[in-house]
Amino acid sequence: MATIGMDLNRFILEEERKHAQATGSLTLALTAITSAAKIIAAHVRMAGLADVIGTTGVINIQGEVVQKLDEFSNKILVQHLSDSGQFYALASEEMEEPLFPEKGRNGKYVIAFDPLDGSSNIDVNVSIGTIFSIHRKVDGTINDFLQEGRKQVAAGYIIYGSSTVLVYSTGNSVNGFTLDPSVGLFLLSHPDMQIPERGKIYSINEGYFNRWDEDLKSHVSALKEKGYSLRYIGSMVSDVHRTLIKGGIFAYPADTKNKSGKLRLLYEAAPMGFLIENAGGMATTGTENILDVKPSELHQRVPVFLGSRGDIQEIIG
Ligand code: AHG
Ligand code: MN
Ligand code: MN
Repeated sequence: MATIGMDLNRFILEEERKHAQATGSLTLALTAITSAAKIIAAHVRMAGLADVIGTTGVINIQGEVVQKLDEFSNKILVQHLSDSGQFYALASEEMEEPLFPEKGRNGKYVIAFDPLDGSSNIDVNVSIGTIFSIHRKVDGTINDFLQEGRKQVAAGYIIYGSSTVLVYSTGNSVNGFTLDPSVGLFLLSHPDMQIPERGKIYSINEGYFNRWDEDLKSHVSALKEKGYSLRYIGSMVSDVHRTLIKGGIFAYPADTKNKSGKLRLLYEAAPMGFLIENAGGMATTGTENILDVKPSELHQRVPVFLGSRGDIQEIIG
């Protein structure tokens, strides 16, 4: 039985033990993510001081080349995920093509990730995050990544906010762990997260109102009539984290400029859809459940509407 304050490593191990055929591989895979997340979290905290902010190519006072935080995060994740030996292939928002780590030749899994989500918020000290999605390797080709979100073995995110919180699911419950920076451990803080059946918040970039179709315009206008509040942080991890806890709607729709929206299916929409659905909510492109979309390319974009069941059902009509 999971209790508040339980260490994430122990929680992962106990979850794995429930499966008789488990080999410990997923535990090692998830542990690699948490190690990388701790290092990224420490750097995010130092961003204003350590000269992490700024353009790549700048030399800091130690004479080291300063990296932008998204490049740094990508490098740390690639290093830890590769070294774990559990991943046959890695795909990242920051890399055009997948990477096949030497040590992962016998890896059972592939992972797609957004190393730093909400990068435009870095310089203004607003919450950012990391998103990941794990699938089982099927044939060692690009097809490993082009599997439906429903087939994810695990998915989650880390939010670097007023505290660092890791939220993940292996297909059953969704659980959140808060990093205790004094000891460097993620401790269970949000057991069995359930999204409220309905919320009072909508989250969408309303500056693009004029680019929306008539249906969406009238739907959002109706939400205003009903007295919903608007909250839009502009980093998906933060907006989804709030939606998961407080309910309501988060959306990044298609519009006249971005015909498929902006968010990426493999490492933004699908993992978030997996978490929201496992927490009792819904995630859709507007016409199809996000978890049923069969990807056709690595960096594909999809429209996203996710959140409380009652609110999303109303949108898709
Ligand atoms: P990233 O920083 O990984 O490129 O992602 C940014 C995304 C997402 O986090 C957020 O929901 C969205 O961009 C915001 O876009 P707009 O500024 O167009 O609203
Ligand atoms: Mn992103
Ligand atoms: Mn990103």
